[in-house]
Amino acid sequence: MGPLSAPHCTQHITWKGLLLTASLLNCWNPPTTAQVTIEAQPPKVSAGKDVLLLVHNLPQNLAGYIWYKGQIMDLYHYITSYVVDGQTIIYGPAYSGRETVYSNASLLIQNVTREDAGSYTLHIIKRGDRTRGVTGYFTFTLYLETPKPSISSSNLNPKEAIEAVILTCDPETPDASYLWWMNGQSLPMTHRLQLSETNRTLFLFGVTKDIAGPYECEIQNPVSASRSDPVTLNLLHGPDLPRIYPSFTYYRSGENLDLSCFADSNPPAQYSWTVNGKFQLLGQKLSIPQITTKHNGLYVCSVRNSATGKESSTSMTVKVSGPCHGDLTGSHS
Ligand SMILES: *[C@@H]1O[C@H](CO)[C@@H](O)[C@H](O)[C@H]1NC(C)=O
Ligand SMILES: *[C@@H]1O[C@H](CO)[C@@H](O)[C@H](O)[C@H]1NC(C)=O
Ligand SMILES: *[C@@H]1O[C@H](CO)[C@@H](O)[C@H](O)[C@H]1NC(C)=O
Repeated sequence: MGPLSAPHCTQHITWKGLLLTASLLNCWNPPTTAQVTIEAQPPKVSAGKDVLLLVHNLPQNLAGYIWYKGQIMDLYHYITSYVVDGQTIIYGPAYSGRETVYSNASLLIQNVTREDAGSYTLHIIKRGDRTRGVTGYFTFTLYLETPKPSISSSNLNPKEAIEAVILTCDPETPDASYLWWMNGQSLPMTHRLQLSETNRTLFLFGVTKDIAGPYECEIQNPVSASRSDPVTLNLLHGPDLPRIYPSFTYYRSGENLDLSCFADSNPPAQYSWTVNGKFQLLGQKLSIPQITTKHNGLYVCSVRNSATGKESSTSMTVKVSGPCHGDLTGSHS
């Protein structure tokens, strides 16, 4: 059902007149009979759908009704009104073209947008002379179905312990509250985690493994709630002190030397080997077939994480026994 429309000039004069009448009455008696209530139909509405603000227990003998967006009853917030005498519909500056007021005061809003959420005020004007007239006003808050939120991060790859991260629960939703979870549970009590005043933003000061996530946020309002997908921070850390395997030190001449180096690091470290101070190769493994006593010396594995800019190294002494007494000194401890 499309809204009725009257010639523009007539509307202009009439709604100004109605507003003036309302302010002259200036008498906000609470209704003594059944309380007027407003209900959204359907209670959960998502953007793009229609919603009817149903008015129940409307008193008898009314002169008209005015709908305002918000709680301020001024011209600027005036959406539409219905004048019983003449069954006239009047539009105000806050009319979007999608609202229809019915003779029973209910308001249909078509193709609801996010901006339509929030409070509405229904102003009821009773018949009567200007001094004895009774008016009432009733506010109602329209909540939209909460959108599925997503978490945005100022930095998805923070350096361990030194970088702060700001997580935000999107989108910003009016009249909603925000909740956060880490590892599926409420946030741990630590000074390194702090929420903004609205709870929409979570500050992580110095991210370590124990607070890397996964994080989820939820948007809640009185009619619905929805939760985001989990987000885990990719913590850049290390390299830790590398370790060389196997840890044997003594070899017999003619054996193969196969050394591996490992250091915990994210992203994985770059490895390099030096023997007696001389660069040998890049890579995690060092293999020398059939070693001899000339392979004696200090083997150093160096690791570097270009993302954290950190380096570390570890060394091991390899002793190779000559072939004549190899059987006596060879040891694999
Ligand atoms: C008011 O009128 C509308 C449109 O005819 C209707 O859908 C709605 O149910 C009515 N409201 C009440 C409270 O009867
Ligand atoms: C609803 O509103 C959107 C944007 O405001 C518009 O693109 C769309 O065409 C409208 N749909 C209908 C059915 O009026
Ligand atoms: C923020 O969350 C805390 C609990 O973590 C809650 O007590 C507080 O009321 C919330 N604040 C707002 C504005 O929702």
